[in-house]
Amino acid sequence: MKRALARLSTDAVHGHGHRDVYGSHIPPIYTSVIYEYIDYELGLATHIDRGTYLRYGREENPTTRALERVVAKLECVEDALAFNSGMAAISTVLLWYLKPGSKVVVPMELYSSTFVLLNNIAPKLGIKVEKVWPSAETIAEAANDLNTVVFVEVMTNPTNKVIDLDYLSKHLDLERTMLIVDNTFTTPVVLKPIKYGAKLIVHSATKYLGGHNDVVGGVVAGYKNMITELWDWRRVLGGILQPFEAYLVLRGIKTLEVRFEKQSNNAKAVAEFLAEHPRVEEVMYPGLTKNPYHELAKKLFEKPLFGGVLSFRIKGSYEDAVNFLKKLKIVKRCPSLGGTESMAVLPTKSASMYIEPEHRKKLGITDNLVRLSIGLEDVNDVIEDLAQALSI
Ligand SMILES: Cc1ncc(COP(=O)(O)O)c(C=O)c1O
Repeated sequence: MKRALARLSTDAVHGHGHRDVYGSHIPPIYTSVIYEYIDYELGLATHIDRGTYLRYGREENPTTRALERVVAKLECVEDALAFNSGMAAISTVLLWYLKPGSKVVVPMELYSSTFVLLNNIAPKLGIKVEKVWPSAETIAEAANDLNTVVFVEVMTNPTNKVIDLDYLSKHLDLERTMLIVDNTFTTPVVLKPIKYGAKLIVHSATKYLGGHNDVVGGVVAGYKNMITELWDWRRVLGGILQPFEAYLVLRGIKTLEVRFEKQSNNAKAVAEFLAEHPRVEEVMYPGLTKNPYHELAKKLFEKPLFGGVLSFRIKGSYEDAVNFLKKLKIVKRCPSLGGTESMAVLPTKSASMYIEPEHRKKLGITDNLVRLSIGLEDVNDVIEDLAQALSI
């Protein structure tokens, strides 16, 4: 692991390393798609090494590069690549790495589109996808073959189960296994997957990194040699993050730590309120001391912050959950998470739709389950809104 030279928030603000002749501190939005050939022969080459020089906007952009420097610093890794969505990042990684005969081990609770992607490419590439119970023990047990990729989200969505990355790193043969961690929910504020042997770390920058619900983006971070190979795939698959979007993420990421801290504290207050509410059957949030994953999360996370996302089961049926959603005023009925606005969804109708029904049942993703992503509003207003929507 590359040693962090500065603390996270300092890198979030200054890590882009932008300097120019005017002395400006903010990286400009470079809209140019074209860059004049410095060397005519190199300019025409079909293969160029990343970093040789800029040539064309689908290959590289200085604003996007500034964001990549920041994310690499926050994740304490050598390099990063930014994409035009989290799914563009994930699909480029999988298309690059998987080959016929590969096996992918994933927890059965995973972001839906990642599942859809794996289900769609598995028969085409001749790869095997094994979906197992979301625990480090079951994942390690399933991942004992050559050419195995383990892809995990450390805090699962929507039931917030925590996967013991420390156990996983000690029980996987990391020389033979490619460990990829989706750090969207946990963020480098509380988790640096590189410490646990992850070779690549992926993010939906649409969530906490951007943080303001105004930009779709994705990032892959990791070792330089892999990022350089991936860059070659990004430039032909065409998923580079565009400069204006890169600027928005660069701007949002400066406040990542303060936002994550306030959202975590707000979510904890909401979870405590819901846990005492007579219309609530169960609250799933590892920040609650009674939660079965609390001690593990405390051990794994660098700070006692458990994120802004929690789920709860409302007493009653699907209709009761829908009625609750309809009555919300401040909390918005929206599918995303990690941003400034508080949002609510029914996972069986959104992010968990493509999890097999029998897996949903095992995991506790029922029709009366509501997922909340708590934002930056005054938490008293959020709690009052939830209270009035829960009243009969
Ligand atoms: C954990 C996780 N990974 C990846 C993605 C995909 O990101 P995007 O929507 O930016 O493509 C999401 C989106 O919700 C997500 O929650």
